[in-house]
Amino acid sequence: MQGAGARGETGLAPVTVVDHPLVQHKLTLMRDKARSTKGFRQLLNEIGTLLAYEVTRDLPLEPVEIETPLVTMQGAQIAGKKLVLAPILRAGVGFLDGMLSLLPSARVAHVGLYRDPDSLEAVEYYFKAPSDLADRTVLVLDPMLATANSAVAAVDRLKERGARDLRFVCLLAAPEGLARFQGAHPDVPVWTAAIDSHLNEHGYILPGLGDAGDRMYGTR
Ligand code: URA
Repeated sequence: MQGAGARGETGLAPVTVVDHPLVQHKLTLMRDKARSTKGFRQLLNEIGTLLAYEVTRDLPLEPVEIETPLVTMQGAQIAGKKLVLAPILRAGVGFLDGMLSLLPSARVAHVGLYRDPDSLEAVEYYFKAPSDLADRTVLVLDPMLATANSAVAAVDRLKERGARDLRFVCLLAAPEGLARFQGAHPDVPVWTAAIDSHLNEHGYILPGLGDAGDRMYGTR
């Protein structure tokens, strides 16, 4: 995997497809339309934990001296910037508990955006974030990178509020959404469990898994 900050020859931050067998297995279970709301939510949570592991793989370490019950030794601890998890409401919340189980000290920013069903444009209705975003690494969370309108708007807003070091984490990406996101934010690396075929005329990812928010919350 390339370092998250590194830009390749294209000038774009990398896109990492997390092909770990556990992630792929759980994703397949989630795609199945027969999966219950409870099962869907639990799997999204579990994949959140696995993606948190992958997206933090290159965090810098620094030496720290500790005493074991027997001797003094040099251990390692995570150095550098503290993390903010920024779920895009509402489906991004599905990743949150799973990620916080690995990253319990992370701060949380909430970005409320809904997709206008006609224009498919993102409309903001809520935003609350820590004031020191400039000093933190921000993980922006949304299971579905479809048109990327919400993802682009969320990152725009977080950058306006000072964020400089961002990573985008999703479950499924459409090629159209990835291209749009990278065009708007070429400095932001992306982690996804899969890149699907295409978007349909309603902005749904195919083959996809349907509406992630509705499936998580049992709405519709
Ligand atoms: N949002 C979803 O929840 N599903 C899609 O397929 C596209 C956007």
